[in-house]
Amino acid sequence: MSANLRIVMANDHGGVEIARELKAYLEGKGHEVVWLGTETEDSCDYPDQAKLACREYLKGSYDFGILCCGTGIGISISANKIKGIRCALPQNCYAAEKAKEHNNANFIAFGGRIDYPESPVSMIQRFIDTEVSKESRHQNRVAKMMALEK
Ligand code: RB5
Repeated sequence: MSANLRIVMANDHGGVEIARELKAYLEGKGHEVVWLGTETEDSCDYPDQAKLACREYLKGSYDFGILCCGTGIGISISANKIKGIRCALPQNCYAAEKAKEHNNANFIAFGGRIDYPESPVSMIQRFIDTEVSKESRHQNRVAKMMALEK
């Protein structure tokens, strides 16, 4: 992936701090981050935040998106209901790498209340550093996955 990326982010109240940390890290690396929030601990609903970021991503000018909630689960499930979205919820750097290489994920989700064995910053960097596999078996599986939307 090229040096300067355009990334859309959203989160609920359970993911504010982790979203802020990831945004600061990515901007520090020279990437452009469009953060749709929320920026406060006031309760809001993760499906609404997933919809915001995914609709923005689908306009077409983004490299990928990031979603955060308390566990990453609700917001990733919500995102995966939206046509065209493949949102990964990686457990570690290995999973973040494979989410890109094998699954061609266009969103990656994190949980602000989860103790990860490796930092979300290192997971996002591994995701960025990994190329989508050109091998036909992986491309066929992604195509089959997307055909499930029909
Ligand atoms: C909000 O309390 C919490 O349920 C949400 O952030 C997320 O963890 C849901 O999957």
